[in-house]
Amino acid sequence: MAIRKVARMGHPVLRQRARELKREEILGEEMKRLVQDMVDTMSEYGGIGLAAPQIHEPIQLALVGFDDGNQRYPGMGSSPLTVLYNPKITVLDPTEQGFWEGCLSVPGLRGLVYRPRKIHVDYLDHRAEPQSIEAEGFLATVFQHELDHLAGVLYIDRIRGELGKTPLAFTEEYERFLVPSADDEVGELED
Ligand code: NI
Repeated sequence: MAIRKVARMGHPVLRQRARELKREEILGEEMKRLVQDMVDTMSEYGGIGLAAPQIHEPIQLALVGFDDGNQRYPGMGSSPLTVLYNPKITVLDPTEQGFWEGCLSVPGLRGLVYRPRKIHVDYLDHRAEPQSIEAEGFLATVFQHELDHLAGVLYIDRIRGELGKTPLAFTEEYERFLVPSADDEVGELED
């Protein structure tokens, strides 16, 4: 078990396009250890997703997984741990939905981001076999956030400002003033 240091906004590794992995690399022992480190790191910080560049590994690898017991994301349901190599995303429904996103690489902040509500992802699994998954709602946002990391994109790049509104907030102020109520159209997300 190894908890890895998380790269924070400003570190160039977060702005690189991550390198595609070869089949032999995916099947190698080193990759197994790296994935375990990512699981440990995500669990330590209460994340619901993590991309390899966030632990200073600029390769096409990301994890997504969360359960209903996660107190920081009440009402967001659950999704089994999915390990994705070389993922490619296709938008199935471009209708936008907003969630207050957070990121382990952008600690202490939340930002309101609008993204397509339904997507399809093609990827390779831990056996280097092709797989695909469809996601909508909150889970679609989680996948898009993580896969953005592999292209050197952070959620703050996607925040659209409007004079007199606050689409970016400190966590404390977010929790005091901005947490959406059940009937609001926006949800929340911290990866
Ligand atoms: Ni993130």
